Amino acid sequence: YPFDETHSNTQSLSVDAENLQKQIDELATFSDTPAPSVTRVLYTEKDVIARRYIKNIMGLAGLSVREDAVGNIFGRWEGYEPDLAPVASGSHIDAIPYSGKYDGVVGVLGAIEAINVLRRSGFKPKRSLEIIMFTSEEPTRFGISCLGSRLMAGSEMLLKALETTVDNQNISFIDAARSAGYAQEENDLRSVFLKKGSYAAFVELHIEQGPLLEEEGISVGIVTAIAAPASIKVDFKGGGGHAGAVLMPHRNDAGLAAAELALAVEKHVFDSGSIDTVGTVGILDLHPRAINSIPSKSHLEIDTRDIDEERRNKVIEKIHESAVSIAKKRGVRLAEFNIINQDPPALSDVSIIEAMKSASKELNLTHKLMISRAYHDSLFMARVSPMGMIFIPCFKGYSHRPEEFSLIEDISNGVKVLALTLAQLSLK
Ligand code: GLV
Ligand code: MN
Ligand code: MN
Ligand code: MN
Repeated sequence: YPFDETHSNTQSLSVDAENLQKQIDELATFSDTPAPSVTRVLYTEKDVIARRYIKNIMGLAGLSVREDAVGNIFGRWEGYEPDLAPVASGSHIDAIPYSGKYDGVVGVLGAIEAINVLRRSGFKPKRSLEIIMFTSEEPTRFGISCLGSRLMAGSEMLLKALETTVDNQNISFIDAARSAGYAQEENDLRSVFLKKGSYAAFVELHIEQGPLLEEEGISVGIVTAIAAPASIKVDFKGGGGHAGAVLMPHRNDAGLAAAELALAVEKHVFDSGSIDTVGTVGILDLHPRAINSIPSKSHLEIDTRDIDEERRNKVIEKIHESAVSIAKKRGVRLAEFNIINQDPPALSDVSIIEAMKSASKELNLTHKLMISRAYHDSLFMARVSPMGMIFIPCFKGYSHRPEEFSLIEDISNGVKVLALTLAQLSLK
C-alpha cells in the first residue's frame, strides 16, 4: 500500500477542494459580526454552533469524537496498533473580533480533510491519528491565550486561575463553560492535563499570517520555532474630574498615563535593537469614557513577543519601570501591573521537520524553513509531545483582519503535506 518507503504513491492523494472551501465558508457564517469579518468568541452561542459543526464533520470523516472538560474536541481514527501513542493534528476555530475565516480553521477542517485524503488513498494508520480542535487559542474572552492547549500541557497556574477568572461582563469562566455544556460538577478541570507521551507527534497546519511565502512564491513553510509571547494588564487610577473646571496643573489624568505608557512600549521595543522584538497595545480603555470628564481610570493590555526570550523579558522589565515612573510623574496610582503570561519559545522536533520536508519534496512542492512569529496551540503541545508546524501562503500576509485570505490551491497543498506527514509519522 502507499506511504512506506518502498511504495510511496503521492498521486493517490486527492483533496476535495470544493468541499473543503464550502466548509470554510459555512463555518465563517457562525459569526457575531457581518461578513467578510468573523467574530467567534469562546462559549458564545456562535462558538457552540461552530463546535457542533466540527463534531459533525469529524463524524462524517469516520472519526470517533470525544470532548474534555474545557471543550477541547478530539476525533480519532484508530490505528492497527491502537496501544501505541497516537499522532495528532489540529488547531482552533475561535476568531478574534473582526478577524478572518482562515486563522486556525484551516488547521482544523484541513486536518479532517487530511484524514479523508488518507482514507480515500487506502492508507491504514499504524498509530492512531487524532484531530484536535483546541478551545480558545485566542485570548479574547478571558485574556488567556491557548487556553485549551495550555491546560492540556498541564499548567497548574492556569488551573488555579480558572477558578477565579471572569470576563469583562463579570461572567466566571466556570459559568461560561457550563453554559456551553462543559466543566460540569463531576468534571475536574485537572482531567484535561495530558500525560507526557500521550502523543507520539503533533503537527499543526496554519496560514502563515505573514507575507514571506507569498512574496517568495513558496508553497510550504516548515516551522522550526515559535516566538515567545507575553501579555500584560495595566490599570492606572487618577482623580478624574470636570474637563472644563479642573485646570491643567491640578490634574491626575489616568488616560494620559496610559497614552504615555503605550508610547513607552513602542520605545522599549525599538530600543531592543532587534527587528524580532514586537510590542502592541491592542486594548486601551478609559473610564468614565465621557468627552467632558478627565479619565479617572485607564486600562491597557500589552502584547510583546520576541524569538529571544531574554530580550523580551528585558522589554517587560522596562515597561514595568516606565509604568511606575509615569504613575509617579503624573500623580496617578499604578493599581495593577499583571503579567498574564510570559511564555518561552518552542522548538519543532527535528524528526518531524524531516518528515514535513520529505512530504513536501515527494509532492514536488517548494518549501522553506521559517519561524512562527504568531503563537499557536503548538507552542503548548510542544511541552508534552514532539511538535511540528506547516505554514501555507496567505494574501499579503494579512491576518487578524477581515481581508485574511488563502487560495484553496494553497490550502489543498498544505492538506496534502499534512496527510503525508501524518501517514509517515503514524507508521513509525
Ligand atoms: C494568535 O492569534 C496570536 O496572536 O499569535
Ligand atoms: Mn489568531
Ligand atoms: Mn491561529
Ligand atoms: Mn495564533
